[in-house]
Amino acid sequence: MATVQQREIGTDRERRDGPAKVTGTAPYAAEHPFTAPAHAHPVQATVARGTITAIDTEAASAVPGVLAILTHENAERLASDEDKEFWVLQSPEVFFRGQFVAVVVADSAEAAREAAESIEVSYDAQDHDVVLRTDHPDLYAPEQVNPAYPTDTEDGDVEAGLASAAATVDATYTTPAYHNNPMEPHTTVARWDEATRHLTLHDSTQSVHGVRELIAPLFGLEVEQVSVIAPHIGGGFGSKGTPHAHDVLASLAARATPGRDVKLPLTRQMLFSIAGYRTPTVQRLRLAADAEGHLLALVHDVWEQTSRIKEFAEQTAVVSRVMYASRARRTSHRLAPLDVPIPSWMRAPGENPGMYAGECAIDELAIALGMDPVELRVRNEPTVDPQTGKPYSSRNLVACLRLGAERFGWADREHAPSRKRGPGGRLAGTGVAASTYPVHRLPGSEAAIDVMPDGRYRVRIGAVDLGTGTWTALAQVAAEALAVPLEQVDLRIGDTSLPHASVAGGSSGITTWGTAIYDAAGNLRDRHGHRPDPGASATGGTGDNEAAEHYAMHAFGAQFVAVEVDPDTGEITVPRALGVFAAGRIVNPRTARSQFLGGMTMGLSTALWEQSTMDPVTGHYVNHDFAEYHIATCADIRDLEAEWIEENDPHVNPMGTKGIGEIGIVGTAAAVANAIHNATGVRIRDLPITPDKLL
Ligand code: MOS
Repeated sequence: MATVQQREIGTDRERRDGPAKVTGTAPYAAEHPFTAPAHAHPVQATVARGTITAIDTEAASAVPGVLAILTHENAERLASDEDKEFWVLQSPEVFFRGQFVAVVVADSAEAAREAAESIEVSYDAQDHDVVLRTDHPDLYAPEQVNPAYPTDTEDGDVEAGLASAAATVDATYTTPAYHNNPMEPHTTVARWDEATRHLTLHDSTQSVHGVRELIAPLFGLEVEQVSVIAPHIGGGFGSKGTPHAHDVLASLAARATPGRDVKLPLTRQMLFSIAGYRTPTVQRLRLAADAEGHLLALVHDVWEQTSRIKEFAEQTAVVSRVMYASRARRTSHRLAPLDVPIPSWMRAPGENPGMYAGECAIDELAIALGMDPVELRVRNEPTVDPQTGKPYSSRNLVACLRLGAERFGWADREHAPSRKRGPGGRLAGTGVAASTYPVHRLPGSEAAIDVMPDGRYRVRIGAVDLGTGTWTALAQVAAEALAVPLEQVDLRIGDTSLPHASVAGGSSGITTWGTAIYDAAGNLRDRHGHRPDPGASATGGTGDNEAAEHYAMHAFGAQFVAVEVDPDTGEITVPRALGVFAAGRIVNPRTARSQFLGGMTMGLSTALWEQSTMDPVTGHYVNHDFAEYHIATCADIRDLEAEWIEENDPHVNPMGTKGIGEIGIVGTAAAVANAIHNATGVRIRDLPITPDKLL
């Protein structure tokens, strides 16, 4: 290995997969070179709750090219009904509209679809309940919230704080349901080989091993009998972090037509019932402060929905346990179980909606106190983690606020809603919000390093690149771990034939997989010295981080946004947004900037456009395509900047990185809402902030 060590982490690198992506040769799940594939098309329930009484498949069977039609009456029995999301075609019961009730496999996609659409399903429909209400009779407190936080917390005397305050805020914020909407819809291509008794899935997933470990036992197989392959993924945003029903449906279809690669690409519309989404939230924030702005009480109560058949409890109030020093604090989560599709992870679950409400409430408090909202935040900066009492491994929120304020020109801001006129007579305003995301290290990742005959290093780990840049950034981590030039690293990811790896989720990838690679590189050096010969190899793994017992570990950031509002139409534009982040060492400035900007763009969408509209009559998310589910387009993005401060955290992992996949989205929506208030004097507490709400 090189004796003069050049630090690879922190070096700007083009994406190693870039040429393959832009020339169309990087295969996504449906695009691998399959020989004579078959095609599957599902049938979805048209009632939100009920029982199937009959399925007429006669017309479907007559469609030329149909190979198999599976329903609950004839599908293979699965081994476990423990998780009803995966109990696919096993029972006549319908738990939500859009649930899979049949699938057709055919020689062509057209035949499969034609046949599927000709299947007649009769239901005994029951009354359904699909609307989240804070007075829902079935509200309950889950045992914990995602991934494993306490549901409720209480510290200090909240009521005394509220009673003795110089200023208080008591405000309720609502956010709608959101769907993840990756560009590549969820796709599974499944093949069952009878002779080798092996199931192969080309799947668009954030976790190849996660899919394998779910599918194998359901079908009574050993994990070694299931391969999952995912070299390139067209986005996931959490919706591909866990398998969903289509993985099971494709596997059932493949088992019914052995020897064929059965393609099941979901349509955009199907994602709105099958692939997870973010629960709507109702959040009540109560803040109390003394005349100097010190928080005396902070209460964050949350109401959300979950499915009646599977609990997902988004950790929306957890951010309020981390952000600010307060003499007293209370947080709670309550869930209403409904006849709705199953919610799951989406783009900073918890942090994103929780910081929207929490950071709007801080802005409202600053106005009540007549303070600069940046100064109010600085004044409530805790010296230790308010919830655990642990010191932070590093916490640079104040530095982010200060640098952002300087870069943004915050000093000139009029803090009272000024109805300042900008270009074209539009109302102009600015807003700020803080950002945070925890450092997650997941257990159970392993990496292997082999020195190749040409002296290069093959680094193998079953990680995935969901579009974020893992192919490049993880190779850079390996180069630094091995102290060799990047060109010497041949990274292999995206396949269960590689050593076991955890999900690309919770912004944990580089922390978790990088730690395993560092461990393997250390073992290689210990065993074979600094210049290992070809043939040398070593493995390593991600153990627990003992430092986590002593330190609270989070990334922080500050978001500054300028808005303009047309006083006649209510049209909102965002001419400028600046995010400043403190997220440990940045592995690759180029891909990191993309992640921050992508997150901020999704935050703008959260603030202004995205919402999934539930029709209470049908139990259906009705705006289920890109024509009606609006995400920021290039024309909506004006001057968008991301910066970061130098932060090298020695406690988080060997790289000093904190994970940047999700923090970019956190706080953006609050900064937009706060800027709109600054521009107009109108406080909208219900996302998205559409023009009609301002008029
Ligand atoms: Mo992210 S929502 O944890 O994949």
